[in-house]
Amino acid sequence: MHNKIGIVTGGAQGIGKAIVLDLLNCGMRAAVFDVDAEALGELQADVADAERLLCCHCDVSEEEEVARAVADTVRTFGRLDVLVNNAVYGQPPYGPFESMGLEEWNQTLKVNMTGPLLMAKYSTPHLRLTKGCIINIASTLALHPEPHCEAIAASKGGLISLTRALAASLAPEVRVNSISPGWIEVGAWRKASLRQGRAHSQAELDHHPVGRVGVPQDISALVTFLAGERSGFITGENFVVDGGVSRCIMFPQ
Ligand SMILES: NC(=O)c1ccc[n+]([C@@H]2O[C@H](COP(=O)([O-])OP(=O)(O)OC[C@H]3O[C@@H](n4cnc5c(N)ncnc54)[C@H](O)[C@@H]3O)[C@@H](O)[C@H]2O)c1
Repeated sequence: MHNKIGIVTGGAQGIGKAIVLDLLNCGMRAAVFDVDAEALGELQADVADAERLLCCHCDVSEEEEVARAVADTVRTFGRLDVLVNNAVYGQPPYGPFESMGLEEWNQTLKVNMTGPLLMAKYSTPHLRLTKGCIINIASTLALHPEPHCEAIAASKGGLISLTRALAASLAPEVRVNSISPGWIEVGAWRKASLRQGRAHSQAELDHHPVGRVGVPQDISALVTFLAGERSGFITGENFVVDGGVSRCIMFPQ
């Protein structure tokens, strides 16, 4: 991983920030594409070795911005090895779809599905050169929906399908995988103005076979594995990381 270069979209806070810090810890340099200038500024201040981090204000759903930011990254660092598509539009609680405007639906698909496609399009020429990889952050909502999540579920289901299609198209040079997180508590990883601790009820903990809710490092640990050479035989796969929730039925004791 040493001296490899990664791009993390939506990496200024939440799970994306944990991914950025883990890639830096592995000896990589990273570019973060995010639309939240305040969070980008805080991330930059948090990283001691600022030369190993490039913060780009970039909306991943806008083709010109993606093309410019990818070019800036390669100009700055000289190569590209890893793309992590993590940015997301849409936060719970989600409302009933009967009252959802078409704009909301279109924006969800634009950021969560078109964004990763654009990122892959402009990154692929550079990833082919380094035999790099793409990691898409999807969601268990794509596989095991809860009520009122039509837009995010459809966008993440599309992202898992896009992952498989890209894995076929970019083989053998570029591996493409996705991770589907379950409930990951990101309150402590948000920018200062939104940061909050959250205590979980016993029922919430018991709902998880592993006895706890997820933390961003549960996802970043898998990202660093998939980004490294020890995962070289894995492509086109989707990894569920949800503490066993979607595999086990936990009856109340
Ligand atoms: N937190 C969870 O419980 C959970 C569960 C399942 C899946 N996920 C997935 O994990 C990923 C990270 O989730 P999170 O909870 O850390 O999210 P978050 O809201 O904390 O962070 C998302 C980041 O994406 C950025 N962003 C939004 N729109 C963007 C755009 N158009 N261009 C660039 N950046 C943009 C935001 O500014 C923010 O910094 C997402 O893909 C999400 O769907 C999270």
